[in-house]
Amino acid sequence: MAQENKIIIDTYERAREAYLSRDLSQALYADGEVIMADVLITLHGEDHRMRRRLENRLYRRDVFLHYENDLFPGIIRETLDPHVAAGKAELVSLSHQLMMNLAALTAGVDRPKGTPEETFWLYDYLMIFIEGATLVHYKGDKQAKEAEIRQALAAFEEEFLAPGITRRLGLIEEFKDGRISEAELPQDVLTVLLRNEDRLNLTPQVILREIAFYLLAGAHTSATAFTRTMHHIFQWLDQNPDQRDKIQSPAFIQRCVHETIRLQPSSPVSERWAEKDIQLVAGPAIEKGSRVIIDLIQVNRDKSVFGDDAEAFNPERKLPSSVPEHGLSFGLGMHACIGKDLAAGILSRESSDSESHLNGVVTLAVNSVLADGCRPDPGDPPEMNPSTSRPYFGRYPVIFEKT
Ligand code: HEM
Repeated sequence: MAQENKIIIDTYERAREAYLSRDLSQALYADGEVIMADVLITLHGEDHRMRRRLENRLYRRDVFLHYENDLFPGIIRETLDPHVAAGKAELVSLSHQLMMNLAALTAGVDRPKGTPEETFWLYDYLMIFIEGATLVHYKGDKQAKEAEIRQALAAFEEEFLAPGITRRLGLIEEFKDGRISEAELPQDVLTVLLRNEDRLNLTPQVILREIAFYLLAGAHTSATAFTRTMHHIFQWLDQNPDQRDKIQSPAFIQRCVHETIRLQPSSPVSERWAEKDIQLVAGPAIEKGSRVIIDLIQVNRDKSVFGDDAEAFNPERKLPSSVPEHGLSFGLGMHACIGKDLAAGILSRESSDSESHLNGVVTLAVNSVLADGCRPDPGDPPEMNPSTSRPYFGRYPVIFEKT
């Protein structure tokens, strides 16, 4: 078998060019077909453009503002309150529960009971779907794991998705008959797919995988960003005790979120296949069939763009307006993250603590737990997750104590 040609991209300009090339197609989810076949992020060319155009209808500023101002605060409180009442929590699992409940709302996965038990039940599905998407790294019996994931998908469909589809189809009928207004339809991906105004060929299995993918794309990335931001803020407070007041400003917290996401991208690599021979202006030449690996940790620490202190956490970093504070952690070009503004909001260069400003769910969640007096548990230090070579926290014990 011919050896695979690998090209590593580790500078900012080269990464920008690679993301913008239409001749590079998605390569990250090889082996993850059980969840990822025909979902938005693995489509290419016209198929991708058409699906993205349909789903973009939901990802609008007014919808995000509605989520942020009207829907998310209730879910944040519902998830946090039991932990705050207990006076302590473990941030890795808390953040996954929280972000999953928020992602479920935007994906269109109903949680009719709204109980903690239901959250844990759905959480188990989420964890299996994450394994499915990353099957390429699985060390055990892949076929057995794939069968387990198929079974979980079928059970998720029966328990969560099918009742949600029935409810939405009923509402869509009522809307068509003029009995309810468009504003009364749920604003989520599932409703957009069921209305399918562009008449795309979406089979029930594609809809099932797309919703499972949206659940994991929204929850895991945001949860990781949340725990890492908390860690950076705790460290920053230790080093800057006289500046504690700053963490009362959501605008400052949002800068901490973007700076954390730059330093520690939730998806640290993007991978592409070269569909033809390509010559990037910033280099290098890429032969058809090569695997192109964009190393976001290196790209986002490119000193020529982010300055000599690029390796450091500095939420007050000043960058030219052409460079986003989060670096390229949300990708760019055709597969650029559709949920970026939902997760991290839009950073304003001026003061931005107003109702029409988009903070993003990670900022909202960090704000809430800090306001509840969250700080590291002095008797139980955080631990990294030993089962992966990537720097994920395994446990992050905290206490809630208002001063
Ligand atoms: C901190 C949070 C997040 C980070 C760091 C992140 C990162 C990324 C990155 C790097 C990509 C591009 C992958 C590539 O080019 O191969 C991407 C795509 C995507 N993200 Fe996010 N994401 C986040 C949150 C979210 C949320 C909340 C949602 C759900 C609404 C979401 C949904 C998606 C989707 C659907 C795509 C595929 C877009 C396409 O292929 O057209 N992400 N994300």
